Amino acid sequence: MITPVILCGGSGTRLWPLSRKSYPKQFAPFIGDQSLFQASAARLSGAQYDAPVVVTANDFRFTAVQQLQETGIDPGAVLIEPEGRDTGPAILAAALHLAQSDPQTLMLVAPSDHVIPDKAAFDAAVAAAIPAARSGKLVTFGIKPDRPETGYGYLALDAIPPTESTPLALKGFVEKPDADHAAQMLADGRYLWNAGIFLFAVETILAGYQTRCPDMYQAVQKAVAQSETDLGFLRLAPEPWAEAPAISIDYAVMEKADNLAVVPFDGSWSDLGDWAAVWRETQTDGLALAGPATAIDCTNSMLRSEVGTQAIVGIGLHDIIAIAMPDAVLVTHKDRAQDVKKAVAILTEKA
Ligand code: GDD
Ligand code: MG
Repeated sequence: MITPVILCGGSGTRLWPLSRKSYPKQFAPFIGDQSLFQASAARLSGAQYDAPVVVTANDFRFTAVQQLQETGIDPGAVLIEPEGRDTGPAILAAALHLAQSDPQTLMLVAPSDHVIPDKAAFDAAVAAAIPAARSGKLVTFGIKPDRPETGYGYLALDAIPPTESTPLALKGFVEKPDADHAAQMLADGRYLWNAGIFLFAVETILAGYQTRCPDMYQAVQKAVAQSETDLGFLRLAPEPWAEAPAISIDYAVMEKADNLAVVPFDGSWSDLGDWAAVWRETQTDGLALAGPATAIDCTNSMLRSEVGTQAIVGIGLHDIIAIAMPDAVLVTHKDRAQDVKKAVAILTEKA
């Protein structure tokens, strides 16, 4: 059996104004009625999975549990981070928690902001990764890149990888390259994107943190040892937690590890990280319209009204994204969607 570890502590600022600090993207229904978090939890339930461990922030604890229950899932544990310190400490805390019952448990770490519609294909890729994870590998899932994306990690292979889901050894891991390096890796063909989903045994990842990031290991170990149970939530101890370096698992362990393997995943996968990704995922013939939206002579654009009856109209727009909320409207060029986080920083400063 595999224990899913679902990360849902990020604040999703690049999807402002739908995603808010108090109600981040993973809990909002972006596609259909389910939230991304609910879709992730549903994907990680079924025959090969135990109850999930959820790692989240204090503000989201009740939302997370309520959304799980609506999906018919009972969490195995909900770990509460005193503050967001990126995915490195969050995953380590889950691993240390699971080690208390069985260090050989396999954990499947998954973000809550991904769209993977084909559960059967995903289940098969996870099943294919199990032997490698059992033999001490840190297994990632690899997606064939189709653009020089700078927001992802790249996995380096010896040869152009096959599409079938079979474990392959990895030469290296490059997290968030600059634009030139990303273009070079895309052209090379021997690279896959890191899907941001990992399968490993608890003892393997603990050894990885101990060797590659001992400061984080010590701080998080104390935060777990001194944690307190409160209404069924496990509150990590704030003081040692604050000592943990705030970096992602990709920088803390993966970029430095020598026991990586990848299982290619050929199914549809998307990280709804910014509005351009939502446009890619929801567009038909280049247009993504939601709510009472009308497009006249527009191409490659998204018009989204999140306010029941408020119409949104675009005329002669090309590569434009416009999102209307009751208290805020975003209009951005599609190529600048990554910069929405800058807008949020400015607005936060003004507030
Ligand atoms: N609990 C918790 N605490 N969750 C967090 C925190 C935190 O402090 N920070 C981020 N998360 C959650 C986010 O909500 C998201 O579900 C997941 O962890 C990944 O974080 P992102 O911030 O979205 O990472 P990324 O997309 O920039 O990069 C990662 O994913 C890419 C693919 O989507 C990396 O693993 C890349 O290598 C990878 O290509
Ligand atoms: Mg992401």
